[in-house]
Amino acid sequence: MLGDSSQIGMADLRIEIAGMRFRNPVFTAAGPTSRDGMTLLNAAAGGAGGLVAKTVSVKPADVPKPNMAALGSGRRESRRGILNAELWSELPIERWLEKEYEIALGSGLPVIASVGYTPEEVSEIAPKIQAKGVNAIEFSTHYVGGHVEIAKALRDSVDIPIFVKLSPKVDVAKIAKDLEPIVDGIVGINTYGPVLRIDIETGKPVLGSDLGEGWMSGASLKPIAMRCIADIARSVSKPVIAVGGVTTGEDAIEFMMAGASAVEVCTAAILQGDTVYGQIVGEMGKWLDEHGYDSVNAIRGTALKHLDKGVKLKPPPKVDLEKCTRCGLCPKSCVYHAINLDKGKGTFSIDSEKCEGCGMCVSVCPYFALSLE
Ligand SMILES: Cc1cc2nc3c(=O)[nH]c(=O)nc-3n(C[C@H](O)[C@H](O)[C@H](O)COP(=O)(O)O)c2cc1C
Repeated sequence: MLGDSSQIGMADLRIEIAGMRFRNPVFTAAGPTSRDGMTLLNAAAGGAGGLVAKTVSVKPADVPKPNMAALGSGRRESRRGILNAELWSELPIERWLEKEYEIALGSGLPVIASVGYTPEEVSEIAPKIQAKGVNAIEFSTHYVGGHVEIAKALRDSVDIPIFVKLSPKVDVAKIAKDLEPIVDGIVGINTYGPVLRIDIETGKPVLGSDLGEGWMSGASLKPIAMRCIADIARSVSKPVIAVGGVTTGEDAIEFMMAGASAVEVCTAAILQGDTVYGQIVGEMGKWLDEHGYDSVNAIRGTALKHLDKGVKLKPPPKVDLEKCTRCGLCPKSCVYHAINLDKGKGTFSIDSEKCEGCGMCVSVCPYFALSLE
């Protein structure tokens, strides 16, 4: 039995989706960090609450090398995210059926297989995967589209819950609505692209794919994913699972407020290793405790009611001079030059005549010293 991460503090982090019970809402995502049974077991030991496996298809992928690179403008800057050209599993489906799913199931956590891509391909492999005892199947529409046909083919070939994983490049709200009668839940989003980076020292693309193109994931993808999740959650009542840039517990909380029941994590696990799942879970528990919630389910969708109206806030921002450290970050980002800071004297004020109420200073303050009412 793996360590129980359902109760970090007071808040209950257990969730249920399509009849499956998860000890916490932080899952692996299809990618190199779910590439085989052992990798999935390591993710479980690192604190994941559910295991989504790498996408498999009828044939193993012929993956270009190199296939992952940092996204940042500096040569090796990866905080903003990464690019990849990894395609689907390089392992043959037979290998997954022989042992990889079984190894992952040994964790005791729910295992969600991922399949692709055409209706014929998914109906060929899905029943064999179901026979191995996996708890659900996610299907990727990344390279193909044709969502309804694939969903129907998969629905007709297995009895376990099925989830569609959507690309950010489609009308996610409409497709989610079209698929709602067929699937048990919606997963969003896959990587965004195609995208390109060139190494300026060599003039060559950083990825080894045709045209050097790849797909973007990680922190930079998060606002796109957030909008997609809110759109999907407002359009359907089936469970929604968010994926795209989750790196911290706060990211996961934000997605859940936008309507997600759980999150999947890929890039953060690539960059930080298996313990990132437990770290995110711990941060979620701490946030919930500090904000007086007794269950993670209590925050699901709480932001949706504000989205149609938007926020109407009154400038200028209020300053909490106890919290303000006079660090000087906010005046730098005030394009209206409305902030007067004298570090020597320790004085700080906002000129209400000049302040346009753009909100940037509130957003950049690391000490939460500024707020708009
Ligand atoms: C190297 C890499 C390989 C991936 N492989 C798959 C895959 O096989 N199937 C799939 O549906 N998504 C795949 N993805 C997409 C991720 O599951 C996820 O949707 C996306 O990266 C956004 O989440 P993140 O920002 O946490 O990485 C891959 C992502 C990366 C970075």
